[in-house]
Amino acid sequence: MRLLWKLVILLLLINTCAGAGAPSRPDFAQEPSDVTAPADSPRSELRLRCAANGRPAPRYRWKQNDTDIDFTASRHYRLDGGDLVISGPRAERDAGTYQCLATNPLGTILSQTAKLRFAYIEDFETKTRSTVSVREGQGVVLLCGPPPHFGGLSYAWTFNDSPLHVQEDSRRFVSQETGNLYIAKVEPSDVGNYTCFVTNQEAQRSVRGPPTPLVQRPDGKTLACPGDQLSGPGEGGGALCFPLLWGGTSSLH
Ligand SMILES: *[C@@H]1O[C@H](CO)[C@@H](O)[C@H](O)[C@H]1NC(C)=O
Ligand SMILES: *[C@@H]1O[C@H](CO)[C@@H](O)[C@H](O)[C@H]1NC(C)=O
Repeated sequence: MRLLWKLVILLLLINTCAGAGAPSRPDFAQEPSDVTAPADSPRSELRLRCAANGRPAPRYRWKQNDTDIDFTASRHYRLDGGDLVISGPRAERDAGTYQCLATNPLGTILSQTAKLRFAYIEDFETKTRSTVSVREGQGVVLLCGPPPHFGGLSYAWTFNDSPLHVQEDSRRFVSQETGNLYIAKVEPSDVGNYTCFVTNQEAQRSVRGPPTPLVQRPDGKTLACPGDQLSGPGEGGGALCFPLLWGGTSSLH
């Protein structure tokens, strides 16, 4: 009789240790989300996350652009738990959509779609920028014109050979929308070469444009723009006019 009790307790223990319980369908604990990787400095590995609960423990598969990834045939893709690990990610081969599938005998679930994209920024064209001339006391806008890119950009300008960025103040403003530099009430000390400096954080790359020379226009010459507007270089060096609303710089973005 005592032996039988011991046997019952032993069986209960084995059951608990094996984690056996009511079988259950797979259920995602983690689904893959969009990833933007740098195109120019590929990391050695990139990981798309996936994990699911379920009893028995689920097995995983992945789809790339709606096609099953054949892990036996690929050296670039491997499974780590539910995660998809891509070694030496490259835009041409790996950009696309990914979905994770988790399967056990009770069913299969398909994750949300994650996009894998590659951030980049090309170099500026090297052709020199046309000179911008401005009268003392006038406002001016210097256009940045960033090169083709994918990924968010941030902008700064340098002046002459100084490695320091032009500081924004009550007269100077750099639009983080367009990269353009606005200078109000130009002073003789503003004359010189301005260079736009563009950073793509996701691409882990910065590029600098060709310098734009700013010169002072002698007084008395006719202005290309009415007095209450800013002048700046247009495409090909023509003048552009901008309404001067210094109180509300939002109109200048
Ligand atoms: C997946 O589809 C996108 C969009 O059609 C395409 O640009 C990309 O090259 C494809 N990726 C692969 C790995 O086939
Ligand atoms: C601006 O650049 C031009 C051409 O590179 C150079 O001749 C000139 O001296 C520069 N001006 C200043 C103020 O550095």
